[in-house]
Amino acid sequence: MTLPWWRDAVIYQVYLRSFADGDGDGIGDLAGLRSRLDYLVELGVDGIRLSPCYPSPQHDHGYDIADHTGIDPDYGDFEEFDDLLAKAHARGLKVVMDLVPNHCSSRHPWFQEALAAGPGSVERERFLFRDGRGADGSLPPNNWRTQFGDPAWTRVTEPDGCSGQWYLHMFDAGQPDFNWRHPDVSTMFDGILRFWFDRGIDGFHVSTAHGLYKHSSLPDWNGDFFNSYAWNQPEVHEIYRHWRCIIDEYRPERELALVGDLSVPTMIDLASYLRQDELPQGCYGDLLEQPWNPDQFRFSIDRAFAGISPTGATITWVLANHDVHRAVTRYGIIRHQGYHGSLDPVIGLIRPRGPVDVSLGERRARAAALLLFALPGSQYVYQGEELGLPEVLDIPDEARQDPAWFRSGALDPGRDGCRVPLPWSGKEADYGFSHGKSAFSPWLPQPEWFAKYTVEEQWEEETSTLSLYRNALRQRRKVFRPENDRITWLDVEGRHDVLAFRRGDVVCVVLFGDAPLFLPREWGSVMLTSVPMTRDRWLPNNSAAWLWTHTPSRSTSATRFREGWNARRQ
Ligand code: BGC
Repeated sequence: MTLPWWRDAVIYQVYLRSFADGDGDGIGDLAGLRSRLDYLVELGVDGIRLSPCYPSPQHDHGYDIADHTGIDPDYGDFEEFDDLLAKAHARGLKVVMDLVPNHCSSRHPWFQEALAAGPGSVERERFLFRDGRGADGSLPPNNWRTQFGDPAWTRVTEPDGCSGQWYLHMFDAGQPDFNWRHPDVSTMFDGILRFWFDRGIDGFHVSTAHGLYKHSSLPDWNGDFFNSYAWNQPEVHEIYRHWRCIIDEYRPERELALVGDLSVPTMIDLASYLRQDELPQGCYGDLLEQPWNPDQFRFSIDRAFAGISPTGATITWVLANHDVHRAVTRYGIIRHQGYHGSLDPVIGLIRPRGPVDVSLGERRARAAALLLFALPGSQYVYQGEELGLPEVLDIPDEARQDPAWFRSGALDPGRDGCRVPLPWSGKEADYGFSHGKSAFSPWLPQPEWFAKYTVEEQWEEETSTLSLYRNALRQRRKVFRPENDRITWLDVEGRHDVLAFRRGDVVCVVLFGDAPLFLPREWGSVMLTSVPMTRDRWLPNNSAAWLWTHTPSRSTSATRFREGWNARRQ
């Protein structure tokens, strides 16, 4: 039996606005992406995840959708979309789109109708409108806060001009949450799924998949960072059972992907979304919250296998995306500076503040990439990670766009720094982002140091991060078989700064520390290293290697590494 393609696919996450600009307006678009498809083929990925390209006022850059079955004119039109899809498919690339079911844009016709129809109307039932508290209703209906840290309710002006009800939005005020208890909402999403599947896409990445339903009585919450009345409600599973039936309608001709972006408190919660009749895949975001520390990486990896493998799903690994600081910067932080105020501590992990050693971060991010691609399952690679781009930390305040920055009063550095338009080539102001057509500057300013990270600079350079990614992806296809879906840890005595595991015939070793590591001969011959080795079989600091072993060897007194699936730390 052939396994569905998505079980072990490498998916490249395209943040469309910042990938490539085809028409010179400074904003990435479908034509720009189409013109760079060969780059993605050469890179060696299996498909792309496309960030929202639907009509949107762009308060949260497309995650505020005004029409779920349209294309935003900034990005192109249906002709371009269909052409992109056809050209991607002709090159063997799958296309997975982002689906955003928790909320829409305040410009969505339904929300506009709800505002116009007033309190008590059927139109308001599709959202979470409530009267305020206090004698004059001037206090929000409950104490919930948004993901950006500020109050989650906004009061509207009623058609008669008076201050009126409040509506719930777990993100920006321009993103009203749907009321999933209203049947119109699920009916609309059934139509959205079928619309895009029938158009030919290969699946959806479901944004904030643990959201959608809210506790029916919207009670005050206790102030913990995870608001268990707002997220992860039992009713949400019903939706995924239903969507699973929808994707099954397309089988066996088409194996559609449905991967949840899930941020839930425990592995038991995560696994509950991956039951046989629910989501076939769920992103495992825990690894991207881990600092450069072997114990924490190992714990996180073990946790994924222990929690997810029993469901039958493969693990969907993620080391970076458009919401977190780039890996180079996260791993290059020398000293974490905490946040003041009430931000969720997770933000301190994914968007840390502190001095950064960029070259150290680069070495570590390259090592982490080899680790990522050696793990069984599917991997999502965020655009620009293959170039080893560091986070742009010094975007001028007046150029910033991210609501996470504005709504937190600049406490959260926000996500603009990982969304700066990609450098493709040349020394011109936009580094080839607009293909020489640049009538306008890129929508976020690119720093001068982008010049040394361009695709052009790195393409032929054997030791570049881009070459490493290309090599690793080529080798991954050759040496890792999907049926080798387990890893076996190899402990190196006396070295607590090393993570090594065997998967099939390959050993992957990551050195987190500064002292070089002699690669035991029993691990086989060196196939690929994240940085060049200067001494035979000596892995330099903060780097990784893949070794090829045809005949797995036993422990020797010289290395005394211990094999065995290690459940100790789970
Ligand atoms: C996206 C964020 C976005 C949020 C709200 C998440 O799934 O990754 O970028 O801000 O949804 O729509």
